[in-house]
Amino acid sequence: MEFPVTRMRRMRKSKAIRDIFAETKLNIEDLIYPIFIKKDLKKGEKEEISTMPEEYRYSVDDGVEFLKNLEKKGLKSTIIFGLPSDDEKDSCGSVAYSDNGVVQETIKRIKAETNLICISDVCLCQYTSHGHCGLVDDENGEILNDESLKYLSKVALSHAKAGVDIVAPSDMMDGRIMAIREILDDNGYEDVLIMSYCVKYASNFYYPFRDAANSSPAFGDRKTYQMDPKNSIEAIREAELDLIEGADVLMVKPALAYLDIINMLKTNFNLPIATYNVSGEYSMLKAAIDKGYLTEDAIMETLISIKRAGADLIITHFAKDILDSL
Ligand code: PBG
Ligand code: ZN
Repeated sequence: MEFPVTRMRRMRKSKAIRDIFAETKLNIEDLIYPIFIKKDLKKGEKEEISTMPEEYRYSVDDGVEFLKNLEKKGLKSTIIFGLPSDDEKDSCGSVAYSDNGVVQETIKRIKAETNLICISDVCLCQYTSHGHCGLVDDENGEILNDESLKYLSKVALSHAKAGVDIVAPSDMMDGRIMAIREILDDNGYEDVLIMSYCVKYASNFYYPFRDAANSSPAFGDRKTYQMDPKNSIEAIREAELDLIEGADVLMVKPALAYLDIINMLKTNFNLPIATYNVSGEYSMLKAAIDKGYLTEDAIMETLISIKRAGADLIITHFAKDILDSL
């Protein structure tokens, strides 16, 4: 049937009609809130992040307090990023697997004081003196793959010991999911899930995060381990490998410039798909809203687009802003 019998506008005639026919819905359970916890900060001290409006680096105490407030508003899960003291950094990021490191302490507190699902980012870049996600060959500056696996596994194990629910390796070394699954299982942590940043592109949209986490590489870039934005077949291969190695959840990162990849993974894999609405995606929208170029409705439209593309879970700094409206 054609016009005038068929009228598409019938389906849009009121908010109530639109609501019951909405194909995509964003639920509070879909959101994971990322938080920065800095070891050197004391209770009551929080630092503004100049490249991320309305986001802060928190002390352990204040971070946990902030999360408790979000939990009251309905938040279900959080992902923790740690900032160690500058003098603790070394060439292999060893403070990343210290049993009383800033992430480990935060995990213990969150698990003791909230019912939040606690996810931890597993990487070395915030903890290494050179700022790379793996170990570096002193002679030629190459990022060493196999040597890094041992350290990344130790980090994951230390988070598991602290009580984390899900570890999320973001380093992009080959074979790390297998290495991490093995060390977790060997130590009785069969129930700790792995959310793999399996498809992580070398993106400019991480720029504010590196400012926030003080984790820019001291030399070179991350292009020998993170993916080339020009590629999508490669994303399938990355996802396939991590699935085989034991990942429970697959992640695409960033989200907005990669909605096609989210959709491709959702259609090709029978695993939950997470995506990371990264720092730069947050900051550019916040900045536009601050300037009056856009209004706050752009936030929900953006998150819905990510959900519609096929994401089951969305890591986003906007979680703190939109809990009240869900
Ligand atoms: C560390 C890590 C990064 C992000 C998450 N984990 C930065 C990077 O790879 O340089 C980026 C998150 C964001 O931009 O919000 N490996
Ligand atoms: Zn890293």
